[in-house]
Amino acid sequence: MRPAALPLLLCAVTVLAGRLHASFEVFIEPPVLVVEHGGAVRLKCRTTCQDPSATGDVETSFFKHRLEASGQGETVVELRNITEWSSNILCFYSCNKQRKTVSATLIAYRPLEQAVLEPVPQLAVGESHELVCRVPRVAPVRNLTVILRRGATTLHTATFELRAENKPQDVEVTHVVTARREDQGQSITCQALLDLRPSNVHFNTTSSPQVLDVYDFPEDPKLEMSEIYLETDEKINISCSVRQAFPAALFELSLAGHPLPLHVTEDGLRAVAEVSHAQQGKFGLVCSVRVGPKERQKQASVHVYSFPQPQLNVSTSVPMEGTEVTGRCVLPPGHSPDLQLQVTAGPRVLAAWGPSPLVFAWTASEEDDDTKLVCEARMRAGNKPTKRSTPVGLSVTALPRMDDRSCPPSQNWTEGEEVTLRCQARGNPRPHVACDKDGTSITPGLRHVATRAHSGTFRCRASNALGTAERSITVWVQYHDVDVVLIVVLVLVALGALVIAGVVYGIYYRKKKMREYQLQKQQRRMEMERLRSEETVGINGSAPGSQP
Ligand SMILES: *[C@@H]1O[C@H](CO)[C@@H](O)[C@H](O)[C@H]1NC(C)=O
Ligand SMILES: *[C@@H]1O[C@H](CO)[C@@H](O)[C@H](O)[C@H]1NC(C)=O
Ligand SMILES: *[C@@H]1O[C@H](CO)[C@@H](O)[C@H](O)[C@H]1NC(C)=O
Ligand SMILES: *[C@@H]1O[C@H](CO)[C@@H](O)[C@H](O)[C@H]1NC(C)=O
Ligand SMILES: *[C@@H]1O[C@H](CO)[C@@H](O)[C@H](O)[C@H]1NC(C)=O
Ligand SMILES: *[C@@H]1O[C@H](CO)[C@@H](O)[C@H](O)[C@H]1NC(C)=O
Repeated sequence: MRPAALPLLLCAVTVLAGRLHASFEVFIEPPVLVVEHGGAVRLKCRTTCQDPSATGDVETSFFKHRLEASGQGETVVELRNITEWSSNILCFYSCNKQRKTVSATLIAYRPLEQAVLEPVPQLAVGESHELVCRVPRVAPVRNLTVILRRGATTLHTATFELRAENKPQDVEVTHVVTARREDQGQSITCQALLDLRPSNVHFNTTSSPQVLDVYDFPEDPKLEMSEIYLETDEKINISCSVRQAFPAALFELSLAGHPLPLHVTEDGLRAVAEVSHAQQGKFGLVCSVRVGPKERQKQASVHVYSFPQPQLNVSTSVPMEGTEVTGRCVLPPGHSPDLQLQVTAGPRVLAAWGPSPLVFAWTASEEDDDTKLVCEARMRAGNKPTKRSTPVGLSVTALPRMDDRSCPPSQNWTEGEEVTLRCQARGNPRPHVACDKDGTSITPGLRHVATRAHSGTFRCRASNALGTAERSITVWVQYHDVDVVLIVVLVLVALGALVIAGVVYGIYYRKKKMREYQLQKQQRRMEMERLRSEETVGINGSAPGSQP
């Protein structure tokens, strides 16, 4: 049974009894008794009994100071030094041999202290945080209301009606908030109200505000490269970036513990620093980004190496064909152990990638002539361009050499025609070729007129600085020799033929003339005969000369 129920029950019984016997009432004023703890309260016990002999009093465990009553049927007392948090006050009157008692509960309160809000740390966007508001030593706690606010928005209201304690209680109110960007700069307050109505005791305190500081930094920063290869004193711009940062990100880039000068882009999301180092080695590059209370880092390794130009030495740059050439490609001392060398002659690889010093040997061949010998150095890791030694131009020397194709052993000429003696020699330096026969010399390749005297065997000598090669060429000259006897015979035959032809013609001509003469004589005779006959047959009327 609740303690408050007993006086109520008593009251009900008294009222009921009063109704039955005589009607008078007993009141306590004020009806709600609240007093500051340790303080004093004045209260009045009053009855409606009209009997002047009626007696009444106030019953309490506290020191009671009786005060003069203002009228009949009233008892006024002042209770002092109220140190009980809750106590019962009884008020009774006897009237017409009846006794009526009413009771009231005297509640002691403590003036409300200011609520205290726990400091709110900087909060990441999306992060949950429990706001804690404490109100110390609250009595009576059931009349307390605690309101947590963000700006003008009420986040949480806590009440304690069901708490029965009368003694002071430390109150803690919590509320979980999730930080948003727009909360930046908002104030969180905790208001505590102790409302002891219907008395006019009312407290209203508000904690000092906590300003929200919200930041957003969800991801680690990114460095452009995680492995950076740098030549000593080579400079490279490395950027470190964040995707989201609120408020502005504070960048710091350091190489081997030393901060580097930075250039931050306008959007504030990227910082660029020039990285370089004078010493060889592996150094740590750290990008630290601070946003609000949060610091995130990203690391990269900077490999600094010395990358000098390789030096190439060859036993000779003018080797003789077929001889062995040796060489060495070296890097000056103090170079990085990660460097490799390769030696090439034109498209041919003479020594594959290997560490310095790289020694090599090969047999010089004709195809190596006029190529360039180069030693290249490369860094094993990273995509750095190679470095090349000063090239060595090769000139492969060779003895003169002739063969059937370049210098055919048998060559046919025709007398009187322009011809050339074909004989070429290979070799380096280019051999000089000369051919001679019986003291006559011919330069191969030059045009000249063939005579039968050229027939025979030429000895051709090809020579250069290294030596001489020899070879024979048999030359055939085709010609047509004219026969004197044959010509004489032919001339005689021709003359004979002419003579015979002349004689034959002469005979023929005479005969022809004779025939023509006799023909004419015969014609003339015949004409005479005709004329004669005409003279005899003149009457026929035929005119002379009408004959064809
Ligand atoms: C009030 O009461 C307390 C304890 O009951 C006592 O120690 C104190 O002296 C009293 N004060 C006065 C002013 O009577
Ligand atoms: C205090 O709170 C209780 C419970 O809510 C209520 O009944 C009462 O009227 C309030 N006032 C006082 C002075 O007790
Ligand atoms: C508490 O006090 C503030 C000003 O200090 C006032 O604005 C507010 O209305 C008061 N609240 C109550 C419930 O009295
Ligand atoms: C790095 O960037 C700065 C500023 O943009 C520029 O002046 C500098 O030449 C750059 N350095 C290199 C090595 O690219
Ligand atoms: C290689 O050649 C350089 C000049 O090109 C010369 O200084 C050096 O002594 C040579 N080294 C060897 C081992 O021959
Ligand atoms: C040159 O002439 C000779 C003899 O007349 C003949 O045997 C040879 O085949 C000819 N050679 C060429 C290349 O014509």
